[in-house]
Amino acid sequence: MESRGALLCIFGATGDLAAKKILPALQQWSNDNIPFERIWCLGRRPLDGPGYHAFIEAKGNFRLNQRLKKAIDYHRLAFDDAAAYHSLADRIGAEGFDPAAKRLFFLAVKPEDVVPIIVQLQAAGLFATGKPEHRLLLEKPFGESLESAAAIQQRLLPLAAEEQMYRIDHYLGKEMIRNILTIRFANRIFTESWHGGAIETVEVISIETSGVEERLDYYDRAGAVNDMVQSHLLQMAALVAMDTPQTLEPESIRRAKIDVLKQMRLDSLHPPVIGQYAGYAAQVPGSTTETFVEATLRIDAPQWQGTRFVVRTGKKLGEKRTEIRLHFRPTRLCLNCSETLEAAPNQLVIEVFPQEGVQLRFNSKTPGYGYGVEPVTADYCHSCRMIGNKPEAYVKLLKNAWSGDKTLFAGFAELQAQWRIADEIQAAAREHGLVVYPPGVWDMREQGGAT
Ligand SMILES: NC(=O)c1ccc[n+]([C@@H]2O[C@H](COP(=O)([O-])OP(=O)(O)OC[C@H]3O[C@@H](n4cnc5c(N)ncnc54)[C@H](OP(=O)(O)O)[C@@H]3O)[C@@H](O)[C@H]2O)c1
Repeated sequence: MESRGALLCIFGATGDLAAKKILPALQQWSNDNIPFERIWCLGRRPLDGPGYHAFIEAKGNFRLNQRLKKAIDYHRLAFDDAAAYHSLADRIGAEGFDPAAKRLFFLAVKPEDVVPIIVQLQAAGLFATGKPEHRLLLEKPFGESLESAAAIQQRLLPLAAEEQMYRIDHYLGKEMIRNILTIRFANRIFTESWHGGAIETVEVISIETSGVEERLDYYDRAGAVNDMVQSHLLQMAALVAMDTPQTLEPESIRRAKIDVLKQMRLDSLHPPVIGQYAGYAAQVPGSTTETFVEATLRIDAPQWQGTRFVVRTGKKLGEKRTEIRLHFRPTRLCLNCSETLEAAPNQLVIEVFPQEGVQLRFNSKTPGYGYGVEPVTADYCHSCRMIGNKPEAYVKLLKNAWSGDKTLFAGFAELQAQWRIADEIQAAAREHGLVVYPPGVWDMREQGGAT
């Protein structure tokens, strides 16, 4: 597994994401056998290797193991400091690393910092355009709108080939999101009923009880639509709605997702609703950033006629939950055909958080002599079957980027389609104003009034 001279360079290594996700993922991976001979953590703070170890352990509240401590070194570097890139190249050179070895650059930075960093990396001879072993892991968001994403891509393409870019949407690394394809395509009962004739509504939900907290600067620029819908929720919706891909190869799956994303549009009868929790504006006076959004989408494809796709996300709501809920059309039960019985609609729930599992609601005879019908639930706990440490999403992302597997990464064409939808939601929602809701509500839509 170990590759002579393989490098990982982390930009933004003193940040929140590094402490919460990237370093803990490397820690988990290194319990196994991590392939990087050196991990360069880059930041502005005046630290050395041991100083960084202590810093990140305190910030992330975890302990680095010895193998990782041996691999991690720190280099002081401000994004625009050309000399610091050259001195990094010198330090790498001094360790005698094989220039043909893999180099992964994890850019846990703001979208506007991506291009300047790559320009500097190239100038210092650390990153080569078109060299497949040199890979860029780009954190979301990729842009702030369709227009700005296209502008970043245009500036990036002369610097890095599309095949060198691994755009992260960490939801794609989550176990139950990866399970969507298996549930859909490995079960005849679902493949036969996965269409608008049988499914009335698909809800894609990711709500939480916490507020914006320490990520206020970022969040106030992004808001719920750009932070959650544009990326995670639309990826989930695409995995549910896409046609059967020709193969399970990453490119084939990606093409199927792009096709369906291009067919998604806002439901003109159900305009999107946006809200902001009470108290948010006290943190950012005058802010009109939305902390809640619900949008109804339709898909212009024959197999999805009549199905509503509802995406909903928000902060400071009554519970923390991420799931995909499919509501099947109701059915009537004709027993002897002199009487028919209403049966509750079936529901299939793919649970992502806090449980990882699948629930299927179906109808059963009421126990006893009669022929009553009542809904019952079959409940499968996926995480219960995992032995030991379950792999975190970022471990899978890092491993896939290492091996060159793009299944869990978003291509630019997907992002373009996602930004087009997000921009449309923003524009339509703004026409109806922002609803202020009290923290902790269960149903935001029943609260408050438009501002
Ligand atoms: N945090 C999350 O949960 C999360 C989730 C998904 C995506 N993301 C994305 O990941 C990226 C990073 O997020 P974050 O939450 O980690 O941000 P953060 O906590 O603000 O950290 C930013 C990092 O970038 C460094 N930095 C900023 N400007 C720099 C400069 N001019 N030169 C050198 N280093 C500089 C900071 O160094 P200093 O320590 O010196 O300030 C820090 O290490 C963002 O694009 C964000 O959208 C974050």
